[in-house]
Amino acid sequence: MIFYFSGTGNTRYIASQLSLATGESMISIARAVVDNKYDYHLDADERVGICFPVHGWRPPFIVREFVRRLRLEGYDAQFCYAFATCGDDVGLTFDYLQADLLAAGIKLDSAFSVIMPETYNFPVIDQIDTPDSARHKIHAARAQLQQVLPAIVGRTHGLHLINKSRWPRINSQLLGSFFLNHWVTDAKFTVDASRCIGCGKCRQVCPVGNIGMTADKNPQWLHNGLCTTCFSCYHHCPAHAIDFAGRTRGKRQYFFKEQFLEG
Ligand SMILES: Cc1cc2nc3c(=O)[nH]c(=O)nc-3n(C[C@H](O)[C@H](O)[C@H](O)COP(=O)(O)O)c2cc1C
Ligand code: SF4
Ligand code: SF4
Repeated sequence: MIFYFSGTGNTRYIASQLSLATGESMISIARAVVDNKYDYHLDADERVGICFPVHGWRPPFIVREFVRRLRLEGYDAQFCYAFATCGDDVGLTFDYLQADLLAAGIKLDSAFSVIMPETYNFPVIDQIDTPDSARHKIHAARAQLQQVLPAIVGRTHGLHLINKSRWPRINSQLLGSFFLNHWVTDAKFTVDASRCIGCGKCRQVCPVGNIGMTADKNPQWLHNGLCTTCFSCYHHCPAHAIDFAGRTRGKRQYFFKEQFLEG
């Protein structure tokens, strides 16, 4: 059983590869939270996988809330692993996840992280990868995944193959809390009406159903309390009409595509 959250597709790709290798099904955390579904049955020979992107050197808040409320009927210390994708480093991400899992009575046995294309835009510089750089990172991530798959399939305990960062406490505790309190918000998204073509793609790709369309085809953020600022809406907009806090205009867009795996 693989629980996953993904905004722009990096983590969905990793989860899909884990699903292929283990034969276990993928369950969307975003969908589960929207549907208020926290009870699942785990078979005796199943693994528990938790896959997510790192947000502000922590698991996204929606992942943490889901994990804390998760009820796994049939859980009897089956192998549990976590797999994070990140643009750079994870800080204390897995310590937060471990505490959340323990609150749900589940022990984290092994943890993995892998660098994938960046999806977050800081002010001024353009952090988002060029297509070439994205392809390069995806190929490297795929190779790294192939190396750790046997450990996951074989249920190896005690592995922590993660890139923590140089100042994990400062990153996760100090900056992570500032980030969560001030920058995880859908109030900073705006749409340039002169560019928007009313295609509804932003609504389609929002993992938590936080975007609606008016009768005259204008997207509207619903402020449903579930926006993780995953930037899926921004990155998928074919007209580059969406901006966040005035910091993304004219910057690159990225989302995971199978074509990046070619070549
Ligand atoms: C809101 C937000 C915060 C992020 N914070 C971090 C971070 O703290 N450290 C990091 O290495 N990458 C960070 N990233 C980059 C993502 O973790 C990375 O691009 C991830 O692979 C995206 O996965 P997805 O495509 O499944 O959403 C952040 C991305 C977003 C959107
Ligand atoms: S509104 Fe945009 S940033 Fe927020 S969850 Fe939906 S797609 Fe992600
Ligand atoms: S994806 Fe972009 S162009 Fe399409 S409706 Fe949303 S904002 Fe408008």
